[in-house]
Amino acid sequence: MTKSILITGASSGIGRAVACEMAQRGYALALVSQRVDQLNEAKAEIERLCNPPAIVVRGLDVTDYDDVYRAVDEMAESLGGLDIVFVNAGVSLGERVGKGDFEKARRTIEVNLIGAIATADAAAAYFLKKGGGHIVGTSSVAAFRGMPKSSAYSASKAGFATYLEALRAELFRKNIYVTVLYPGYIDTPLNDMLPNRPFLISVEKGAAIIARLIEKRVKSSTVPVYPWNVIGRLLKILPTGVISRF
Ligand SMILES: NC(=O)c1ccc[n+]([C@@H]2O[C@H](COP(=O)([O-])OP(=O)(O)OC[C@H]3O[C@@H](n4cnc5c(N)ncnc54)[C@H](OP(=O)(O)O)[C@@H]3O)[C@@H](O)[C@H]2O)c1
Repeated sequence: MTKSILITGASSGIGRAVACEMAQRGYALALVSQRVDQLNEAKAEIERLCNPPAIVVRGLDVTDYDDVYRAVDEMAESLGGLDIVFVNAGVSLGERVGKGDFEKARRTIEVNLIGAIATADAAAAYFLKKGGGHIVGTSSVAAFRGMPKSSAYSASKAGFATYLEALRAELFRKNIYVTVLYPGYIDTPLNDMLPNRPFLISVEKGAAIIARLIEKRVKSSTVPVYPWNVIGRLLKILPTGVISRF
């Protein structure tokens, strides 16, 4: 039977590239994000290049929390069921503390944390009814240590990773797998304005690694695994004076 995956934040970057990878691996796709024009463009490209068994798109703002639940149910119905929900939509707004950026911080928490929790909760509700499934969430290496000029972003990603660990424990023995991904720098519009992106990888390479990790149902992993598994451990112990220069 054809497997299927719902991807949030599928109009761009990691979500769009993972959609193509999963299509090539035989998955039917449900793609959601706010910009329907971009989603339709992604759909046309994926149909042309990646041969999906089925593909549906739908507009969704993950901060319209009630609509998140409707979207999961509607997409499941359109594809005749879902096996994986990839909670991936996110923003990075470069907020600075004490500089009038509270609105950026609030938006970051609303999209990356509350919107992501709403999506994971809607997926859990659906998978509990169905009797099983797989929830995959995009955190970040910025979750390992609060980073300067990304305070709310770091908090949102650490918060979401911790939420997913709790969800995994709460749904233990319910046949629901949970994967937490911690990407380093992957080349997407989210970060292409930054002057310095250490150990940058292409979005195609990142998507291939993510698709492999999803199919292996790992509990958690950095992306790519090396060097970020080592750097992640270092980030936790580096002195504040070093972190302040990042
Ligand atoms: N690229 C990296 O190096 C990196 C590293 C660590 C973590 N991440 C995380 O990876 C995820 C994907 O990021 P990306 O790098 O692929 O960036 P991107 O190219 O900017 O894609 C972000 C996606 O999220 C969607 N989105 C934003 N706000 C949304 C909302 N309110 N409702 C629904 N969808 C929304 C965007 O689509 P619309 O504008 O159409 O809504 C877009 O499809 C994010 O969670 C990001 O934090 C990325």
